[in-house]
Amino acid sequence: MCKTLVLADIVPLTAGNPNEICVECDLTDSRAVDALLEGADTVVHFAGYPREAAWEVIIPANILSVTNLWEGALKNKIRRIVYASTNHVVGMYPVDRKIDVSAEMKCDSRYGVSKAFTEIVARFYYEKFGLESLGIRIGRCEDEATDERMLSTWIHPQDLVDIVALGITQPVKADLVYGVSRNSKGWCINPPFEQFPYSPRHSADDYSAKIAAASLGAAARGEKRQEWRMQGGPFADYEYVGDPARATSFYRTPNSVSVAE
Ligand SMILES: NC(=O)c1ccc[n+]([C@@H]2O[C@H](COP(=O)([O-])OP(=O)(O)OC[C@H]3O[C@@H](n4cnc5c(N)ncnc54)[C@H](O)[C@@H]3O)[C@@H](O)[C@H]2O)c1
Repeated sequence: MCKTLVLADIVPLTAGNPNEICVECDLTDSRAVDALLEGADTVVHFAGYPREAAWEVIIPANILSVTNLWEGALKNKIRRIVYASTNHVVGMYPVDRKIDVSAEMKCDSRYGVSKAFTEIVARFYYEKFGLESLGIRIGRCEDEATDERMLSTWIHPQDLVDIVALGITQPVKADLVYGVSRNSKGWCINPPFEQFPYSPRHSADDYSAKIAAASLGAAARGEKRQEWRMQGGPFADYEYVGDPARATSFYRTPNSVSVAE
């Protein structure tokens, strides 16, 4: 698919194929990023800090890295960036709502805010400079769904690979897609795409019996069932203070909460 694939990380990587080159690069170093992007056509950006943390951790990994990357992409005339966002950009929605990518952002964590920032940067660079992007609001990417929340949020690695491949090859502007498999209990819904034919091959539904049996076993052992009010689950509950209905009842544009099924 590509002549040369440059794999970059702050830690050393090992090439898996003859067309791969590994480069150590700290994305917080703008000069290193500019050099990394020289001669490139497309960037797939999955680096960063993938969970909640203090701003001291989030800002370099997920904010400064992003400004360096998009600025470097502009200088180097990169065609497109396909990047990892997260469901935690909308993690404060209640679990009884289904939303599509037009729903207003309701971040559940500093981490979610940093990904919302990335989505805004991506849109700005498209509208102002024509730099295309696809943001993938990934749910939880694992080989198998193993808990009740994952019945809604799970994506199989192959489905995620499919989205990235489509993101590289299909026409996009500064689009967003939910990175979830075909889960009947999903909260985040992708509308039918005309030019972006993502068709998940996997479904968390295949694990629902196993998860239900594990829940029954846990209940029999007297373990408390984990129930989440908000789609962000533990990210949304962590540090939450005061009125439990505050986050789930506040909308600037109530009509943006759309059921896309
Ligand atoms: N794994 C999931 O289920 C999931 C869900 C939602 C979103 N995401 C997003 O997908 C991406 C990958 O997630 P992951 O779980 O594989 O995380 P990971 O921590 O395994 O991988 C992130 C990589 O980024 C690198 N990195 C961190 N700071 C860097 C810097 N300054 N310069 C260069 N490289 C740097 C790390 O060394 C690491 O190899 C992240 O952006 C994450 O937020 C993942």
